Amino acid sequence: MSKAPPKLSGDPETTGHSWDGIEEFNNPLPRWWVWVFYLTIVWGVAYSIAYPAWPMIHSATAGVLGYSTRAQVAEEIAAANAANQAINDKLASSELTAISADPQLNGYAVSAGAAVFKTWCAQCHGAGAAGAKGYPNLLDDDWLWGGDIEAIHQTISHGIRNTEDDEARYSQMPAFGRDELLTPAEIDEVANFVQSLSGTPDDASKVAAGATLFADNCASCHGENGEGDRAQGAPNLSDAIWLYGGDHATLVQTITNARFGVMPAWSGRLTEAQVRAVAAYVHQLGGGE
Ligand code: HEC
Ligand code: HEC
Repeated sequence: MSKAPPKLSGDPETTGHSWDGIEEFNNPLPRWWVWVFYLTIVWGVAYSIAYPAWPMIHSATAGVLGYSTRAQVAEEIAAANAANQAINDKLASSELTAISADPQLNGYAVSAGAAVFKTWCAQCHGAGAAGAKGYPNLLDDDWLWGGDIEAIHQTISHGIRNTEDDEARYSQMPAFGRDELLTPAEIDEVANFVQSLSGTPDDASKVAAGATLFADNCASCHGENGEGDRAQGAPNLSDAIWLYGGDHATLVQTITNARFGVMPAWSGRLTEAQVRAVAAYVHQLGGGE
């Protein structure tokens, strides 16, 4: 602050504050501005009485108009459901195999199914359904349990190896190492044989011994030539498509400890129309049979 310059007559009144010679006028606020200011206070008080406004410990003041965004969303959802009621009923009651033949029904099912997939399935199978380690890719034509619409519908309705649904698909590969059914040396051999089915083994000299072990221990589920068995969700081991991985170390790990992929059942969580919609969506992704 420096000293204010001398005051001339006719200069507006100042507050007496002066910064580097710059002084602050002491003019009254414009009338219109003051009234707008009072109006905003009145508006604020009225608004907080009329609408939900003040937070309390467990809730908030509700407002005398009874407005609620939650109720509004619920109303909109109910209206959308009512509008889709007829087509949902049709979807839930038609033959699964007939859905794709009806363009209108199929179009609705696939777009509704895409929305269900994004909400309920993407966290495991990926937003684009390409899967991840332990979570199958649903875009290809390699199916663990079957790729026609009925098999897909069954998988989604009841899930896989879960404890919540009695009709869940179920199978269990033995833990050959952990339960000492095979020695580490034998597991090394059979892993080399599995590698040889679709590529190059780490050690070709172990493949012959591995083939015998495979025939005795693995063929009952994975098939004589490792082609897999959909009746028990045993993966095809000869197509170079891997659920957990086809490198030597991962194979040894799988054979030693086995795997137990679990998928929840959806029939209790989603409506039948939603389950069918997402089944139709998955079926048309590219690998459907
Ligand atoms: C918690 C993770 C999880 C969620 C969520 C989930 N899945 Fe799965 N899904 C799996 C696993 C794990 C498998 C493979 C199980 C196995 O090893 O056989 C699987 C398998 C499948 C299969 C069988 C694929 C085949 O090759 O036969 C289909 C179809 C499928 N899921 C569809 C869905 C759909 C549709 C949804 C959503 C409604 C969904 N999944 C949600 C984990 C999940
Ligand atoms: C009782 C049936 C059964 C037997 C016997 C069995 N498997 Fe499996 N195997 C399965 C099932 C089911 C899966 C899938 C597990 C999952 O999805 O979680 C599987 C998965 C695998 C995988 C993972 C494939 C991938 O794509 O990542 C490999 C590798 C494998 N088995 C190798 C073997 C070998 C080698 C043997 C013999 C030493 C064997 N299995 C014996 C049922 C069996």
